[in-house]
Amino acid sequence: MKTWEEKDKEWIWHPFTALEGAPAPLFIESAEGVYLHTSDGRKIMDAVSSWWVNIHGHCHPEIVKAIAHQAQKLEHVIFAGFTHEPAITLAENLLRLLPPNFSKIFFSDNGSTAVEIAIKLSIQFWKNQGIKKNKIIAIQGSYHGDTFGAMSVGDRNTFTKVFSDYLFEVEFIDFPTPENEKDVLHQFEEQVSSGTVAAFIFEPLVQAVAGMKMYSPECLNQLLILSRQNNVITIADEVFTGFGRTGKTFAIDHLQQRPDLMALSKGITGGSLPLGVTVCSQKIVEAFTSSEAIKTFFHGHSFTANPITCAAANASIRLLLNKDCQDSIQRIHTHHQKFTDSIKNRPSVKEARCLGTIVAIELNTGSHTSYFNTIRSKIYSYFLDRQILLRPLGNILYFLPPYVITQEQMNEVYQAIRAFLNELERQDDGV
Ligand SMILES: Cc1ncc(COP(=O)(O)O)c(C=O)c1O
Repeated sequence: MKTWEEKDKEWIWHPFTALEGAPAPLFIESAEGVYLHTSDGRKIMDAVSSWWVNIHGHCHPEIVKAIAHQAQKLEHVIFAGFTHEPAITLAENLLRLLPPNFSKIFFSDNGSTAVEIAIKLSIQFWKNQGIKKNKIIAIQGSYHGDTFGAMSVGDRNTFTKVFSDYLFEVEFIDFPTPENEKDVLHQFEEQVSSGTVAAFIFEPLVQAVAGMKMYSPECLNQLLILSRQNNVITIADEVFTGFGRTGKTFAIDHLQQRPDLMALSKGITGGSLPLGVTVCSQKIVEAFTSSEAIKTFFHGHSFTANPITCAAANASIRLLLNKDCQDSIQRIHTHHQKFTDSIKNRPSVKEARCLGTIVAIELNTGSHTSYFNTIRSKIYSYFLDRQILLRPLGNILYFLPPYVITQEQMNEVYQAIRAFLNELERQDDGV
């Protein structure tokens, strides 16, 4: 008889994992709150919210109940020519939370498809009006997903190199920092004033995969103003930042300007089921408001607006808006900020940054900041040995807890990080 581990190794291809040489995956039997329970009896704290999705922790009873209830009533129905209550309620819930310029919801399955749809809508927006614009602008270092359109607007790096001949052309502006903000705005203005730019896509305030890199709302506001002045459609990719991560419901809530399209996913169902949403402003909708086939948006997925998934999202949004959850987000932020301030001047820390419920520590490694920095596997196993799941981005260690985390559990992670920094600083030759 083969073991689970042997069967997994033989039959399953895991994401972002080499087929040879990678450590065997941990077998998780169940999960509750912030803990994952392994088959060998260990209890591991999920300090990264399982790829940033489990905002209310695992198996939250309210979400589980909503899923079970909906599954008994209507599990799925084709969404072309049919509709249902969970999808309509979700659209209403989302539009109520978003600024009033947004007026329609397009459903899909994950973050990449939510982005892909936003890109396609922005291109067709101009085509439908007979206006020729073909350029897209993105920010250096960005990550928008793994489908071809999403890869095209993302950073060109080791992940996408093999596909580079098949990615469409995109203009990248530099990542804005306090030192170069003026230059970036100038670069951007030059690009958009050409009159050929169809869309500008960005991760608002935080580039997640790039290493939780943060930039200022003032600069983003300026980029959005320039876009509007030059008739460029703006796409906020809030797949990571949405649903409380940055301390507000959406990262755009930190801004005065509003984008034309938004991509949402990850936290939308509290991490229970896959769902993507592209939110469209009235301006976008108007360019498609026609019965002509040529102006129709011909896009759809088999599981579009799955009722069980929508019911899970409605339960997750109810929980998010609850005072307990809002207080928790503020509490996490306050403690993250204190922790950041307490470690930022340590010799092993190049930079410590914090926004909302995100804390990121860029470690001094002596070599370049990179996903492939060798310290990554050292950090990963150090914390896993202490029953904490922290999955660093190269030399960037980040702590991104589910909002149900208690103060005691937060302190446990902070303490473990401090002990790790102590260990790094004790080594003779640095990190
Ligand atoms: C900002 C951003 N956009 C898009 C995606 C892609 O989402 P998914 O992995 O659900 O396709 C991610 C995933 O990490 C992301 O962080």
